[in-house]
Amino acid sequence: MGYLITDKKKVTAKTLLQMKAAGEKITQMTAYDFTTAGIIDTAGIDSILVGDSASNVVAGNQDTTPITLEEMIYHARAVVRACRHCLVVCDMPFGSYQVSREEGIRNAIRIIKETGAGAVKMEGGKEIAETVKGIVDSGVPVVGHLGLTPQSIHKFGGYGLRAKDDAEAERLIEDALALDDAGVSAITLEKVPAALATKVTSMVKAATIGIGAGSGTDGQVLVYADALGMTQGFKPKFLRQFANVGKCMTEGVQEYIKCVKEKSFPSDAEAY
Ligand code: KIV
Repeated sequence: MGYLITDKKKVTAKTLLQMKAAGEKITQMTAYDFTTAGIIDTAGIDSILVGDSASNVVAGNQDTTPITLEEMIYHARAVVRACRHCLVVCDMPFGSYQVSREEGIRNAIRIIKETGAGAVKMEGGKEIAETVKGIVDSGVPVVGHLGLTPQSIHKFGGYGLRAKDDAEAERLIEDALALDDAGVSAITLEKVPAALATKVTSMVKAATIGIGAGSGTDGQVLVYADALGMTQGFKPKFLRQFANVGKCMTEGVQEYIKCVKEKSFPSDAEAY
């Protein structure tokens, strides 16, 4: 289930490249806390992304821009504590690598030192390639992120499909090649046409991990709360709901309320 070499071997950024070479699909899901990460790791996932989507999913913000480096470190630490097999990738939050190359390198090192994550993820292409190279040269594996890049929501003004026209597609290819040259281990491709994602996948050494990018990427990533049916009213075309945990939790909570109200919980056997 999902491990290229043996089930006991820890997945690293290097494993992603081996999986690409072997044609084995990479599975990634987000998690932000110890309990959820433990369940996802035990299920056999290859990688957990401590995404800055924690800003939406955990904190209830409208977008990912408010989450801080300290908050990402808090989430990633909890996830790393739970994971025995999978690669933990921690998002670098908005503002932690855009100001200067030096600050980006310092913050990436801080994430690795303080969380134990195996890689960091950063949004952007050519404009961050020098910073990416500096981080990789310092010994920290980097995952790039192209297409829909939610940290730039205020620049783009929406969450629609990216790289629809030829010029934008060409720019995305140039960005992917720049990240590849800078030494990224993987590139997340979010909400881009499937044909473009397939083309990029064949052009880069790095493993591509798609979300809303079709089946031609080297792997897939989903936000766990979306994939497991815990978010309400978010149903983009690319999303498949693999379980209905939200319904299960609602029923469990309702049963608890009922038992307390009717005084059947706790029973004598459940008391000291
Ligand atoms: O933060 C996140 O969850 C992400 C995924 C959507 C790829 O970046």
